Amino acid sequence: MLSTAHTDTTIQALARQAIDATRHAYIPYSHYPVGAALRAVDGTVYTGCNVENASYPVTICAERTALVKAVSEGQRQFDLLAVATRNGGTPCGMCRQMLFEFAPDLRVVTVDLDGHVFADCRLSELLLDGFGPSNLE
Ligand code: THU
Repeated sequence: MLSTAHTDTTIQALARQAIDATRHAYIPYSHYPVGAALRAVDGTVYTGCNVENASYPVTICAERTALVKAVSEGQRQFDLLAVATRNGGTPCGMCRQMLFEFAPDLRVVTVDLDGHVFADCRLSELLLDGFGPSNLE
């Protein structure tokens, strides 16, 4: 059972921000909108969407958009991530790895575009035995 350190209201508000962020998704190739809302421990929320590119691998996911926005503004500690897709998909491997650098214990909640929760877990469960900064000490 996951700790209830975050209230349902906090989760629902973050999920709403992730759903709203899908409106800006640039997805001419996949037509698969993704929105993310990443909460820093000071309560500031950074949103992101997927931004695709004609050179397909250059595409950036919603989760990494949000993370890079946050880190580039001085944030390095995060406690909660909401991800919205039409079917509640979980973050891809590249996003898991990039988030793990900063927040292995991050709570990850995935929702569909109506706000129904599909996954509610820790990043360390999504990326078991992840490679992180401590491996390079
Ligand atoms: N996508 C994300 O934004 N986040 C993920 O974690 C999975 C995939 C995007 C990338 C691409 O624009 C579309 O979803 C289909 O792969």
